[in-house]
Amino acid sequence: MPRNTDASGGAPPRIRAARSRDLEAIRSIYNEAVRTTTATFDTVPRTRREQRVWYSAHEGRYPVLVVEAEHRVVGWASLSAWSDRRAYQDTAELSVYVASAHRGHGFGKALMVGILEAGCRRGLRTVLARVADGNPASRGLHLKVGFVPVGVMHRVGKKFGRLLDVELLEFHWEPEPGPRH
Ligand SMILES: CC(C)(COP(=O)(O)OP(=O)(O)OC[C@H]1O[C@@H](n2cnc3c(N)ncnc32)[C@H](O)[C@@H]1OP(=O)(O)O)[C@@H](O)C(=O)NCCC(=O)NCCS
Repeated sequence: MPRNTDASGGAPPRIRAARSRDLEAIRSIYNEAVRTTTATFDTVPRTRREQRVWYSAHEGRYPVLVVEAEHRVVGWASLSAWSDRRAYQDTAELSVYVASAHRGHGFGKALMVGILEAGCRRGLRTVLARVADGNPASRGLHLKVGFVPVGVMHRVGKKFGRLLDVELLEFHWEPEPGPRH
């Protein structure tokens, strides 16, 4: 499968801020990953109500972006609060999900670059990401845009009957002011 070429034939992916009417598309993409991957440690699909609560927690400081192909939302990315302890206020956690039928076309990378730029504009200082064992696409994507590994937490999750390690990665805008393209 070609990489970093958009499914619509080479035009740059259309990245934009999410709106409340995107929530069902975001939920559907997320729930596909809940059901079929270890990318998220949720094991039960998110309800409409939970999706709305999640979205309302992102109003203000924490951006949510979507990517469109042929006028349909095919992926999304967000920055979320890492902790409610005040000293962590400039640290966020990144999530990125692309619908399985649209992976490998550069949408994930475009979302990552967009969400890191949005976080930089909002004054965040550090972005963390947790990547479960056995997700080379996610690990590769994070390394590609400048995340660096921090370390591995061993056997911290259990999904599909398997105990899973989780790697923590971090991204800092300093000393470079922005994600690598
Ligand atoms: C991870 C994910 C978002 C990547 O999205 P994508 O649109 O397929 O990725 P892109 O096509 O933009 O690829 C960008 C880079 O990611 C890396 N990458 C993507 N797929 C990869 C794979 N299967 N194996 C290794 N590296 C991969 C590569 O570095 C790639 O750059 P390259 O094309 O120059 O080699 C997507 O696979 C996905 O949604 N997976 C399920 C959810 C998930 O794992 N989310 C992350 C939670 S931690």
